[in-house]
Amino acid sequence: MLHALGSAAPDPIIRLMQDFAADPRADKVDLGVGMYRDGEGRTPVMAAVRAAEARLLAAQETKGYLGLAGDPAFHAGMRDLLLGTAAAAERVAAAGTPGGTGALRQALELVRRANPGARVWLSAPTWPNHPALVRAAGLAPATYRYYDAASGGIDRAGMRADLEGAALGDVVLLHGCCHNPTGADLMPGDWADLAVMCERRGAVPLIDMAYLGFAEGIDADAAGLRLMAASLPEVLIAASGSKSFGLYRERVGCVLAICESAPVRDAAAAMLATLNRESYAFPPDHGARVVTTILADAALRADWAAELEAMRARLARLRQGLAEALRDAAGSDRFGSLAAQRGMFSLIGADPDQVERLRATHGLYLIGDGRINLAGLREADIPRVARAIAAELA
Ligand SMILES: Cc1ncc(COP(=O)(O)O)c(C=O)c1O
Repeated sequence: MLHALGSAAPDPIIRLMQDFAADPRADKVDLGVGMYRDGEGRTPVMAAVRAAEARLLAAQETKGYLGLAGDPAFHAGMRDLLLGTAAAAERVAAAGTPGGTGALRQALELVRRANPGARVWLSAPTWPNHPALVRAAGLAPATYRYYDAASGGIDRAGMRADLEGAALGDVVLLHGCCHNPTGADLMPGDWADLAVMCERRGAVPLIDMAYLGFAEGIDADAAGLRLMAASLPEVLIAASGSKSFGLYRERVGCVLAICESAPVRDAAAAMLATLNRESYAFPPDHGARVVTTILADAALRADWAAELEAMRARLARLRQGLAEALRDAAGSDRFGSLAAQRGMFSLIGADPDQVERLRATHGLYLIGDGRINLAGLREADIPRVARAIAAELA
């Protein structure tokens, strides 16, 4: 029976990781995989995570099952972290999920149960897993213009015009901050415009918050999401603990459904629990408990926030440094928008042949759409990387 499956398309990022590992060149640079790296190229366990894990090891007395939605203390911690006072707790249904990917999938499943005909509007471009998850949940993806390659910013007129096509009960997927792959983020005025548009069209925003703290800081990064939560009757949020807490492989995620009333909240919470049961029964607990421990303890929380801020500052420095080095190497401002973009990713405007030449000739690994992960840079690599990009993209 299984011979009927054919072969699934290989994941280009996994392939890139394998090729990078097999490359013997000492000066190779991995700008591909979407993980934060420090100045030594490591993805460290955060100090607050180590401390929280030590506490759990010493004090945890059971690993018995929890409820289907996971630990209510984790939901409350994530709700407060993301929403602050923007939405009353009585309006918010929540469930723990395996990572932000699991949160997206369960949010989309929730949409399908409520409105099987919903279209899910995705930015052009977006994280490639977004359309895959939309289709896997049995929904139809639609596209809105977003990135303006000429300016490295947002095509506001195109976005507005395309989203006028959203119908009652459609979903608009927005990147909470650090847009992947462009780094071109919505500004406060854009969030306000989108909230008005969603209200007028009866569309529901689904906010993918995978990089909280990586753009401008925790509260600034959550501001757009909070504006929507405070002004709209329904907002869906898919949050990830992978990057902000460095808990990638622990699979920490949380789906939040902000509802118009407490009875709707109860129905959404029951459906989220059912969706978990039908998928994997119980969400992973360890990473979620680490996050809850950190958020509930003032000292651990301050320590975590400071380390996250240092990561953010390193990314901002790398952006400035690479933009300046590219200006020198290219003799133009063609790559100037790198400095204004935010988070780990930007598009350098390379076509697949140029991406291949960057790999083969210079040992620079990036994915085929020309996305770079700036966190893969060491400061000392910047001049050489800038020269290689300027040479191949000239
Ligand atoms: C835009 C975006 N959303 C969600 C995720 C989900 O991350 P995870 O499932 O590892 O928590 C990622 C990870 O790369 C991402 O880039």
